[in-house]
Amino acid sequence: MKFFLDSAHVHEIERALTMWDIDGVTTNPRHVQASGKPFLAVIQEIGALFAGTDKTVSVEVNPHHTKAEAMVAEALTLAALSPNFVIKLPATEAGFKAIALLKAQGIRSNLTLVFSAAQALQAMRMGAFYVSPFVGWKESNGEEIVSMIEEIVAIRDNYDFSTEVLVAAVRNGRQIVEAAVAGADIVTAGFAVFQESFDHPYTGVGLARFQSFWDQTPYD
Ligand code: E4P
Repeated sequence: MKFFLDSAHVHEIERALTMWDIDGVTTNPRHVQASGKPFLAVIQEIGALFAGTDKTVSVEVNPHHTKAEAMVAEALTLAALSPNFVIKLPATEAGFKAIALLKAQGIRSNLTLVFSAAQALQAMRMGAFYVSPFVGWKESNGEEIVSMIEEIVAIRDNYDFSTEVLVAAVRNGRQIVEAAVAGADIVTAGFAVFQESFDHPYTGVGLARFQSFWDQTPYD
C-alpha cells in the first residue's frame, strides 16, 4: 500500500521523504494557502523534490472552473511544469469530462471530492488515474466509510479499470487500517496523522518499564 503525504509544506514533505520514504504528495487549495507561498511557486518547489522519480504530486486546478475546457486548459499548463504532476479535478460533470479529454492527451488525473461509489465508478469509466474518496469528511458527517471503499475497490476489480483507489482526508490510524483492509491502493494523510499512526502510548510505557528492568540487571 502506498502512503501519500497530504500537504504543501515543503519542510514536511522533505521530512516525510527522509523518514518514511513516502510514495507521493497530494495538495489542495487549503494546503497551498497554508504554505504561505504563491500557488505556482510552491507546486514547482514540491515537484522538484520528486524530479527523477516515478512518485506523483497531485495538484488541483482552480476550483472555480465550471467548464471542462477551462479545466483542461489549466491542466495542460500545470502538467507541463513537472512529469510528476497528476491533475486534481472535482467530481462534477465537467470534471468527469475533463478526465477523458486529458487522458486523450496523456495527462493523468485525480478525481477529488468523491463521496460515493457512483461518483468513483464514473471517474473510473472516464479513465481517471486516481480516484479520491474523502473518508474523514464523510465520517464527520456521521456516514460509514468502509463499505464505500470496499464498493469502489470491488467495482474497479470487477471491470478491470486501471484507476488506483486513493483514500483521502484520512484523520487517524484506524482509518488507514480500514482503507488497507478494504483493499485501497493508497492513503493520503497529513504529517501528524502518519506520525501518530506509527505510535501507541503503550510502546512508550513498555519501553520505560523495560529500561527500568534493564537498569536493575547486571550485564555480565
Ligand atoms: C486529498 O487529496 C485532499 O487533499 C485532502 O485529503 C482533503 O481533505 P482535508 O484538506 O480536509 O484533509
